[in-house]
Amino acid sequence: MHLPIRDNLIGLEPYEDDVAPECVRLGFNEVGESVPEKVVKEMQNALITTLPGLNRYPDHSMAKLREVAVRFLNDRFGTDLTIDNLFFANGATELILQIFNTFGGPSFNQEQRTIFSFQPGYIAYLDDARDSKSNLYRVRLDSNFQIDPDLTIAEIQKHRPALVLFTNPENPTGTLTPLSTFRKIIDQTQEVIVAGTDRVTHPLYISDEAYIEFAENTNASAIHLLQHYPNLLVLRTLSKSFGLAGLRVGYIVGSPKVIYPVTIVRQPYSFSNVTQALATVAFRNSEILMKPIKKIIARRRELLSWLEGKQYQGYSLKVVPSQTNFCLVGFDPQIPNYLDLPNHVVDFLIDKDVLVRKVAVPGYFRVSIGTETELSRFKHVFNEFLE
Ligand SMILES: Cc1ncc(COP(=O)(O)O)c(C=O)c1O
Repeated sequence: MHLPIRDNLIGLEPYEDDVAPECVRLGFNEVGESVPEKVVKEMQNALITTLPGLNRYPDHSMAKLREVAVRFLNDRFGTDLTIDNLFFANGATELILQIFNTFGGPSFNQEQRTIFSFQPGYIAYLDDARDSKSNLYRVRLDSNFQIDPDLTIAEIQKHRPALVLFTNPENPTGTLTPLSTFRKIIDQTQEVIVAGTDRVTHPLYISDEAYIEFAENTNASAIHLLQHYPNLLVLRTLSKSFGLAGLRVGYIVGSPKVIYPVTIVRQPYSFSNVTQALATVAFRNSEILMKPIKKIIARRRELLSWLEGKQYQGYSLKVVPSQTNFCLVGFDPQIPNYLDLPNHVVDFLIDKDVLVRKVAVPGYFRVSIGTETELSRFKHVFNEFLE
């Protein structure tokens, strides 16, 4: 039987994460600590009141959730946002596709709009560009995995993208971009006329801040720039800083003028009553949920210095200074087969039930900052590899 699968999907594989349950999971940048008991209890109570109402479709306006979330943001960032500045979906990943479907994709004349981002970058952007039929153009980070502002400005002027997508801190490198760099890039490109539209339009800028709370600089968020730039959208998630990856909650923060069009492409009622109720509890308990962050930052410092002291075949490892809950580790290019080594590490470790991640950075692999127990298991088996 020949199915009429869309041509650009033929031969591709779906996203996979089948790992053995007993495995030490250091491949997905999850928080290793389980949800605190107090929050579990409150979530159970919220479920008890929510479940009988499941005969009805969810509250489309998400009013209650947006109210607690906006209070959280205003307390944290000293902003005066309102609920019209917020919109939720099932994880940041769902929002990325919605944003691409809203601002990317083909125009009436079938010319594809360009989404501009950075390389190496978050891998999901590639699939979302494919599925929204957008053209993804990624400029390389420099040799320290930092954005080169002048090169970026020149490339934006050349490619005239509809969307400029920053990931801050970046995945898989873990590096942070200062807000001054964003300001410089936005200031010098916001008059660019977007290619592939029949009207005169200008780029929309997005800062994907999935990992921002793990940065040492607590003022690193582009939320502080929103008042200056109505053409900027900040993307956040509860998966990392709140340690709730299984709940699937992400949100965007920005001007209602930007948020409104994104709501056009959402699936009706996709954000369930249950998710709304549990996410509301999560925001009310933000302080408790975010408690592990300090410990994760301390464990990151410790792991980075441990890795910096290690060698393979007489060469020190390359350790990228991370501002996230993971770190990128590489092998010296002077080692003859250095490009194969990350695959060897991943295979060696998985044989011993420790999962770390292959990434699209030649010679490097990525390891999440798990719990102390998880990291000591990682160190133990990685040491065996290095010997
Ligand atoms: C940069 C970046 N953005 C977004 C996400 C997805 O977040 P969510 O779990 O909310 O879909 C991830 C997940 O790893 C990520 O690395």
